Amino acid sequence: MVDVVLGGFYGDEGKGKIIDFLAKDADVSVRFSGGDNAGHTINVNGKKFAFHLIPSGILNKGTKAVLGNGVVINPKVLIGELENLKANDVDISNFYISEKAQIIMPYHIKMDELEEAQRENKIGTTKRGIGPAYCDKFQRSGIRAEDFVSGKFEEKIRENTKAKNILFKTYGFEELNAEEIIQEYREYSEILKPYIVDTIGLLHESIEKGEKILCEGAQATMLDIDFGSYPFVTSSNPTIGGVSTGTGIGAKYIGEVYGVIKAYASRVGEGPFVTEQKNEIGDLIRELGHEYGTTTKRPRRCGWLDLPALKYTVMINGLTGIAINHLDTIGKLDKIKLCVGYEHDGKVDMKYSNNEAFLAKVKPVYEEFEGNFGEISHIRRKEDLPEKALKYLDRIEELAGAPIKFIGVGADREDMIIV
Ligand code: GDP
Ligand code: IMO
Ligand code: MG
Repeated sequence: MVDVVLGGFYGDEGKGKIIDFLAKDADVSVRFSGGDNAGHTINVNGKKFAFHLIPSGILNKGTKAVLGNGVVINPKVLIGELENLKANDVDISNFYISEKAQIIMPYHIKMDELEEAQRENKIGTTKRGIGPAYCDKFQRSGIRAEDFVSGKFEEKIRENTKAKNILFKTYGFEELNAEEIIQEYREYSEILKPYIVDTIGLLHESIEKGEKILCEGAQATMLDIDFGSYPFVTSSNPTIGGVSTGTGIGAKYIGEVYGVIKAYASRVGEGPFVTEQKNEIGDLIRELGHEYGTTTKRPRRCGWLDLPALKYTVMINGLTGIAINHLDTIGKLDKIKLCVGYEHDGKVDMKYSNNEAFLAKVKPVYEEFEGNFGEISHIRRKEDLPEKALKYLDRIEELAGAPIKFIGVGADREDMIIV
């Protein structure tokens, strides 16, 4: 069976922590989309690991960690991450890269920066070259990991840099030197070659052996290129469909699909955010939850949990369970608000649509809950939570249409209730 962990909202919901827990029972942990725009934090015995590319399941000894074909890889970032893990005595002998994964090149990063600078309505990208790398993949000029193995990357870099330089020159920007890039990437290819394999075969061998596979989502449903708040999205499908196209694992093998959310909401970058609190409440949540980006260090926009949006996430991904983190954080407020519907066109209901005009006109309808949960980080059984916290969770479960299966009560690896 293959279980999946996905981001429920705008990213940074604490997927890393849930994956780290589930990886204890997994033989394989695989990333299927995105690149180093992701930042997944895991706190182990006071030590903080921030993963951008490598599946965080690698922290579990013996679990194979795989970068699937749907991922875009910045080799420099990946090598840095491997070195950091080695320095921390994490075993990396079980790490694999799909031969079909795309490689991020310096011109992708430069284009991401330039495109973002030119935009009147900025997306607020992470400037990691993600969008341009996926563009090249679909334009069929991308460089894949297999090109490191065959050596074809050199010729492709020459050809691609020539084409990109025509663009850079047209707009009056500095051109890139292909030979310099080749030299740099030759070093990367030598280091990464041993890890590059046919991961589709590897994953299906695991399935045949009855091994357990965990698919590690990056980004989130509202950042999905199709289902998110376009154009304020990333350039991949971090939703359930991306699992199959990004790994080669068909739908019939998939079991549990967990959506990770926080007990409030946050967003980095631009785009609609109906329940955003651009006021002292939002500032307070940011400080209490340490809501600053793992990847870009940007302060995250904060607000209340939005149940019409959550219901949409449950529906789009066919979630079988919800993991809700930061119950401890929201429980530090005196009063908590929960968005239980939208007022629009003279009515109130749970309709959600990632349509800009719709999201601009809706007004969130809130219910208020008692906060001040007290210290709950040590609690490990749902029934031991204070009545006030249970009331909040029950209302979420009731309206979301999926059961809550994990509750995060603190930042540490162990601070979790399994329902
Ligand atoms: P991801 O990208 O979804 O993996 O999430 P990030 O790592 O970017 O952001 C989540 C942040 O919340 C990290 O700093 C985690 O250590 C922290 N975190 C996760 N779960 C909890 C929780 O239940 N309580 C608290 N206080 N912090 C949490
Ligand atoms: P994890 O996996 C939060 C956001 C960026 C920007 C938009 C497009 O840690 O949850 P991109 O660089 O992908 O072209 O940027 O998507 N974004 C994320 N926000 N968490 C992430 O990953 C994100 N990955 C991309 O901030 O708004
Ligand atoms: Mg993150």
